[in-house]
Amino acid sequence: MNVIVFASRKGGTGKSTLTAHLAAQVHKASKPCLLIDADPQGSLTLWHKLRGTNEPPIKTAVNSVSGIVAAAKRDGIEWVFIDTPPNTSAVVEDAIKNATMVIIPARPGVFDVNAVQETIQTCRANRKPYAVVLNGAPASRDNAESRIVTIAREALAKFRAPVWGGQITNRSDLLMALGHGEGAREYFAEGRAAAEIGRLWAAIERSVKAIRGTSPSSGAMHKQAA
Ligand SMILES: Nc1ncnc2c1ncn2[C@@H]1O[C@H](COP(=O)(O)OP(=O)(O)OP(=O)(O)O)[C@@H](O)[C@H]1O
Ligand SMILES: [Mg+2]
Repeated sequence: MNVIVFASRKGGTGKSTLTAHLAAQVHKASKPCLLIDADPQGSLTLWHKLRGTNEPPIKTAVNSVSGIVAAAKRDGIEWVFIDTPPNTSAVVEDAIKNATMVIIPARPGVFDVNAVQETIQTCRANRKPYAVVLNGAPASRDNAESRIVTIAREALAKFRAPVWGGQITNRSDLLMALGHGEGAREYFAEGRAAAEIGRLWAAIERSVKAIRGTSPSSGAMHKQAA
């Protein structure tokens, strides 16, 4: 079983957005996924209500996720995705302790990039693989990423933070999908939002395989220099 934790000390970076879109991307009856909403704000729970299918299943955690994660393992769940609140509370620490890998979304702005440091510290202290994912970024033009994204990568390189080479662009499709309780692919399979979510998922899977030792770690995003 693999546990992917979405964490960032800063609010509004895209933790709940990425959790929902990736869960919708991954969940299949043959590859069951469990969502854990560890944020009292309940964004993921709201999306799940809008979805109305109870698939993937969701559980709410208040102070700790360990019991839910242990039960999921016994139940043969393949993927657990945990959405966490924007702080460094006990439940965030507990989620990170249970993580196979931590995804730290950050918007490409100076405040956001600076704020990843605390979450990175928690990952490093717990010896957990992690990667920063630039989210809400301006669109690339002619395959060239926006200057602000390049600046963010340079700043993250100073913290020696591994950063996913792609980006999740600021796209209304991502918001529209959430409003329908859907993931990007369910909302518009041929769209750019779905393609980016698909690429992010492929990168997470590659990293997890490398962490598990079932594929080489070279090129895995949690090892990638910014
Ligand atoms: N790539 C994106 N494109 C468009 N809108 C986005 C994108 N990422 C996030 N948003 C929007 O930005 C807002 C904040 O995102 P979200 O709630 O996912 O962040 P969060 O990190 O979970 O916030 P919190 O820390 O409060 O839990 C939401 O309205 C969300 O739909
Ligand atoms: Mg959230």
